[in-house]
Amino acid sequence: MEKFHIVGPNRLAGTVRASGAKNAALPALAASLLTDDPVNLSRVPAVRDIRTMVRLLEHLGVASEWREEGLRLWRGGPIRSAAEAPYELVKTMRASVLVLGPLLARFGSARVSLPGGCAIGVRPIDQHLAGLEALGAEVKLEHGYVDLSAPRLRGARFAFSTATVTGTENLLMAASLAQGTTVLENCAREPEIADLAALLVAMGAKIDGAGTPTVTIEGVAQLHGVDEHQIIADRIEGGTYLIGAAISGGDVLLVDTEPADLAPLLEKLAEIGARVEVEGRQIRVAHQGPLAPRNVITAPHPGFPTDLQAQYMALMTQAEGSATICETVFENRFQHVPELNRMGASIRVEGTFARVQGASALSGTTVMATDLRASACLVLAGLVARGETVVDRIYHLDRGYERMELKLQKLGARVRRSNAAADSNPSV
Ligand code: EPZ
Repeated sequence: MEKFHIVGPNRLAGTVRASGAKNAALPALAASLLTDDPVNLSRVPAVRDIRTMVRLLEHLGVASEWREEGLRLWRGGPIRSAAEAPYELVKTMRASVLVLGPLLARFGSARVSLPGGCAIGVRPIDQHLAGLEALGAEVKLEHGYVDLSAPRLRGARFAFSTATVTGTENLLMAASLAQGTTVLENCAREPEIADLAALLVAMGAKIDGAGTPTVTIEGVAQLHGVDEHQIIADRIEGGTYLIGAAISGGDVLLVDTEPADLAPLLEKLAEIGARVEVEGRQIRVAHQGPLAPRNVITAPHPGFPTDLQAQYMALMTQAEGSATICETVFENRFQHVPELNRMGASIRVEGTFARVQGASALSGTTVMATDLRASACLVLAGLVARGETVVDRIYHLDRGYERMELKLQKLGARVRRSNAAADSNPSV
């Protein structure tokens, strides 16, 4: 099993460019099911979840090819919509549910294994199904699969009972080909949703209000391909490196990323005393000296992103005082706490709250990644810990961070990847 070996303390300094956003690329790939024409996507991150989605789409009949400028997808044969999105694929990546809306809208049926829970929570899809039902789908749940059928989807008004990112994305894609007008209320507002809407509009869809709580979609008869759609920058990856600058007393320039997408983090970094400079699509975070503790409550966009909660917690272990972090989006997203405490942090979890005692002298040891963002948290802690930190099960990290060790090395970190079997070079 691959591991990261990180020697600290070490400061990050230099320039880094975020890859395309995994959470924007995944719905964009699913959208290729909505047309027979080629869809050309650029700035697609070469990460595990993308490769899983490519395999799922190939299973369903969509061919794809990596090119210099990105990924080209086209209908490679009959779309096997009746074929199920198999459990062995869906269980490794919950975002497989994003094929539900397109398959149903385009082919009148879809069969997807229920994703089941994951490390951070139960992850239900009741809102996806309720929304598709409102558009006229018949929903059957049996043997761990969801079967959807609808001769033709009809536009409707539907209000989500909870803001769901992939739920909003599934409904956007389904409503694009429904007959008539759909009004979706209480939609999620993450930047990745506006990016999907931009792609769908480029394919011929008629969508207003994406990125706001109320979205109106005029269904059209068919959608066409696109010559090029560039995926937006990954704000969570970029935010991770900016937190790395603050935690390590470093100075990092993040380029080609929309600052507005990172506003909640940038505000918080400025509050704790980091120097934050924004110029166009360039964001610089530098920090020397003490960090002030500041509480955080995670929330759907434009709130503080749950996907940066673990990374921020690592930062707060170095603050001059205690901070409280409240996780409101997922019910089990504190699995990085025991690992941080093994490195010398002092964090107490009470329900949805984690109380972080600051000014902890962290020391390197072997820690285990449990999920994607917990992995990133442990890597950041390794930057500031004294000695070598070995982060095991780094395959979690590879789901959403493209070549992280190379990007960190370019920023001056002493980090290497090892495969336990082949690891012969203990020095970093
Ligand atoms: C997306 O997951 C992201 N994944 C997650 O990123 C991110 O953490 C999450 O949004 C929140 O921002 C992708 O975009 C591929 P939700 P999603 O549906 O859509 C509840 C990462 O690290 N809910 O917005 O699955 C749900 O239980 C990943 O990159 C229902 O109750 O999240 C949760 O408490 C992790 N019923 C809340 O809503 C539903 O039908 C938000 O979930 C759907 C969701």
